Amino acid sequence: MKPVTFSQKYIRPILNAKMIGIDMTCGGGNDTRFLADHIMKVYSFDIQKEAILKAQSKLHDYHNITFINDSHSELDHYITDKIDVVMFNLGYLPNSTSSIITKADTTIKALDALYKHLNDKALVSLIFYRGHDGGYDEYYKVLRYIKDSPYKILEHYQEYKDPFEPVVYILTK
Ligand SMILES: C[S@@+](CC[C@H](N)C(=O)[O-])C[C@H]1O[C@@H](n2cnc3c(N)ncnc32)[C@H](O)[C@@H]1O
Repeated sequence: MKPVTFSQKYIRPILNAKMIGIDMTCGGGNDTRFLADHIMKVYSFDIQKEAILKAQSKLHDYHNITFINDSHSELDHYITDKIDVVMFNLGYLPNSTSSIITKADTTIKALDALYKHLNDKALVSLIFYRGHDGGYDEYYKVLRYIKDSPYKILEHYQEYKDPFEPVVYILTK
């Protein structure tokens, strides 16, 4: 099973129409659409204007998405609600010429800022892509942060045993 399939399958049963969620890495908007199909309101962050503009035009029929063209590490400036579900699909935007990738320091800042906004049973999914330059470094540092943080790891999934393959972590408070 692909990591994104695992993440969505894990999260799907808890979703309901009263919930509020965050897609921390909008990219092509696939996770944003997945969340927007099932919950009341979605905040969707991407640091790349190009990604936000494309996702906005693809998802123009949805009225429950707030797109934010800023780093997820700045989430305190935008999030005013209690949050039930969060998705991080880390790494780089596929099929793009951009070299922008997510990085350990901003991913950690986002997780750190996020904790106080979460409802008690909130789920946070992180997909780490470890094969690109910087990918393993991000995985290693973020995981070290998680293990020393108040987050609890509920689940960990990888399709293959290769250490450079993607891996999914599901966290809660
Ligand atoms: C793997 S892609 C996301 C794929 C996306 N969820 C989808 O459904 O297509 C990672 C995205 O994270 C974005 N990104 C990188 N650093 C970021 C940051 N600090 N804050 C928010 N987005 C960031 C990149 O611009 C890229 O679009």
